[in-house]
Amino acid sequence: MNDTSGNGSGDGNGNGNGNGNGSKKVFIRTFGCHMNEYDSSKIADVLRAADGYEPTTDVEQADLILFNTCSVREKAQEKVFSDLGRVRHLKKKGVLIGVGGCVASQEGAAILERAPYVDLVFGPQTLHRLPQMIAARAAEQRPQVDIRFPEIEKFDHLPPARTDGASAFVSIMEGCSKYCSYCVVPYTRGEEVHRPLDDVLTEVAGLADQGVKEVTLLGQNVNAYRGLMASAERGAGGTPDIADFALLIEYVAAIPGIERIRYTTSHPNEFTLRLIDVYARVPQLVSHLHLPVQHGSDRILMAMKRGYTAIEYKSTIRKLRAVRPDISLSSDFIVGFPGETQDDFDKTMKLIDDIGYDSSFSFVFSARPGTPAAALADETPQALKLQRLQQLQARIEDNVRRISASRQGTVQRILVEGPSRNSGKAGKAGSGAQELMGRTACNRIVNFDGGPHAARLIGQMLDVTITEALPHSLRGTPVLHVSMVADGGNALNAGPARSPATTA
Ligand code: SAM
Ligand code: SF4
Ligand code: F3S
Repeated sequence: MNDTSGNGSGDGNGNGNGNGNGSKKVFIRTFGCHMNEYDSSKIADVLRAADGYEPTTDVEQADLILFNTCSVREKAQEKVFSDLGRVRHLKKKGVLIGVGGCVASQEGAAILERAPYVDLVFGPQTLHRLPQMIAARAAEQRPQVDIRFPEIEKFDHLPPARTDGASAFVSIMEGCSKYCSYCVVPYTRGEEVHRPLDDVLTEVAGLADQGVKEVTLLGQNVNAYRGLMASAERGAGGTPDIADFALLIEYVAAIPGIERIRYTTSHPNEFTLRLIDVYARVPQLVSHLHLPVQHGSDRILMAMKRGYTAIEYKSTIRKLRAVRPDISLSSDFIVGFPGETQDDFDKTMKLIDDIGYDSSFSFVFSARPGTPAAALADETPQALKLQRLQQLQARIEDNVRRISASRQGTVQRILVEGPSRNSGKAGKAGSGAQELMGRTACNRIVNFDGGPHAARLIGQMLDVTITEALPHSLRGTPVLHVSMVADGGNALNAGPARSPATTA
């Protein structure tokens, strides 16, 4: 869960809490996936552009409190209502409270029955209408609910993407049409809608102009992407051409300044040979892939309506490894799906061994109202499901440690993101140096001593030699090159180190 700051307003609705510094403030709490995090940053942009709201991480200072919610599992959904209860007392100060995201989409006006003090209920596709909803709340003096799915309208009403870092997310599609039997997403976010190719490329180019070097293309099934191409690129006879995900990646890679391309989440069924070929030809595409398998038993995969078998999944990975032998893989797993036997579970454990997954996400099945799997007989005791989950997580953890240890002594190229989490501590004693962190292509955090002019390294690609492997992070030292050594190492302070010899 993250707190994301949004923007504040001069909406004239008299909802100020008198935070005393003139500008209105918005507090946004985000639950759930990258899509929700992306949406929260867009909510912040929309409110800043329309009403001048400034972000705050202090809920007591807020004029507007927004919860951007997730309903993928029951626990996540229930958390929203307990959090709402905790801010209810702030209504006395005239604060507005809003609920967005997937719980809002699923429950709609029913949220007001359980929490009548909520002022705004908006869905993932209507977040751009928040300024109008706030104004309507003031004018009509009653709560506003808008959870429609107005196609892709949202993207036409968002201010241009802004960023202050070297890494940014870009949504390429909304919703999901896969209808896995356990999942609420197609119901909360609607069916797949794809942004036109040019819109995506314009957004990436704008981010690159602001110094972004790494983009993560976002969607629930990004490799199902089919984006309309601009008229200039239409085929003979005026038929609109459609770009698939492989072509989109090639176009993104051609944008000057983009050095790394990531994406999440992709679906095994949409993993085409064209996409595998892009791994062979596009070096900017990182050697890390999150490809959720969910389960290792074909019987359960079929009940989940995933549309592939374990062997088909492994075959995709084999083809991918043939062109990218160093690729690191991660997955999502569901344990305790209705009817899962010990034999089914053992098949998941075997698949984990066969593939050698790196850091992954795993969950106990949660019956979601309205999904087909919620109606299936489920006789496995919860305690056994939890035991299996622990066993699975321990196996993945072994892999994570082994993979981390194998990085020791290698040179890794990292994108330096900023001060490391424990950056309160300086680098070498008395040097005034700052601890920095960056990420490898395979998404491992690397902490290192940034030297006395560490600030200059932030946002740069840098080669580091890995000196220590902790389970979830690495420690490294920047690679010094001949020119830097001749300069007594001072060149490190003047800009990014460059080395041709890197491993992914
Ligand atoms: N679109 C992605 C895919 O197909 O793998 C994942 C999207 S989903 C928001 C994130 C993860 O939540 C899923 O991969 C799945 O492991 C988990 N999940 C979804 N529904 C669940 C449920 N009812 N119970 C437990 N885990 C669930
Ligand atoms: Fe949910 Fe399946 Fe769609 Fe992923 S592909 S969002 S798990 S329905
Ligand atoms: Fe949750 Fe909705 Fe994402 S249900 S995982 S916030 S798409």
